[in-house]
Amino acid sequence: MRKLTYYIACSLDGFIGDPGGDASSMYSFVDGEFLEYLRTEYPETLPTHGRRALGIDHLENRRFDTIIQGRASYELALKEGITSPYAHLREYVASRTLGESPDPHVEIVADDLVGKVRELKAEEGEFGIYLCGGSRLAGELLDEIDELVIKTYPIVLGTGMPMFGSGFAVTRFGLDGVRTFNNGVIVRTYGRKR
Ligand SMILES: NC(=O)c1ccc[n+]([C@@H]2O[C@H](COP(=O)([O-])OP(=O)(O)OC[C@H]3O[C@@H](n4cnc5c(N)ncnc54)[C@H](OP(=O)(O)O)[C@@H]3O)[C@@H](O)[C@H]2O)c1
Repeated sequence: MRKLTYYIACSLDGFIGDPGGDASSMYSFVDGEFLEYLRTEYPETLPTHGRRALGIDHLENRRFDTIIQGRASYELALKEGITSPYAHLREYVASRTLGESPDPHVEIVADDLVGKVRELKAEEGEFGIYLCGGSRLAGELLDEIDELVIKTYPIVLGTGMPMFGSGFAVTRFGLDGVRTFNNGVIVRTYGRKR
């Protein structure tokens, strides 16, 4: 069984971006020691154009071979003219409105999203599935999430886009690991308690 991991950047008060989802207030923390950690531990979570800019195109995937994004998150790349932002992973985009995929490497999931994720999780293989977000997609898939990797940046936003766009429900996770960085970033890994 492959794991579905929600790997996400958020503020101290649990927001993944401003009220519209813009996460650019977090970008300045991705440098030095923390960037080296991402390069070493999670190189596949950097988009293909970012990997190229950093000269780390050649790095092999460490944890994931598949990514699933919501349409709104994918559109950020589309607006830049990038149709396959994670070309080093199998790419799925959830959308009922996009219709035909703008790229042969990207598969659109329009119907039975949970069924598709269960099918991917049931595949053989050592690599997991990177749930990229955003908020609405994570809310839809909360019941399927096996692991959380939360990169917390030392900022308070006051209000913003929540980590999960879902209704109230208590879902338990157990702490599996914590890494702290000199710039105040903390990465916590939690496993689902079922
Ligand atoms: N901080 C971070 O690490 C991080 C990471 C990722 C994203 N983000 C931010 O998150 C924001 C976007 O989040 P969001 O919540 O607005 O949108 P989103 O979750 O990226 O996308 C929502 C869309 O996904 C599709 N979708 C959701 N559930 C579906 C289902 N069951 N079946 C089929 N399609 C489904 C729908 O597309 P259709 O409307 O086309 O049907 C829906 O409108 C962006 O601004 C981005 O910056 C932040």
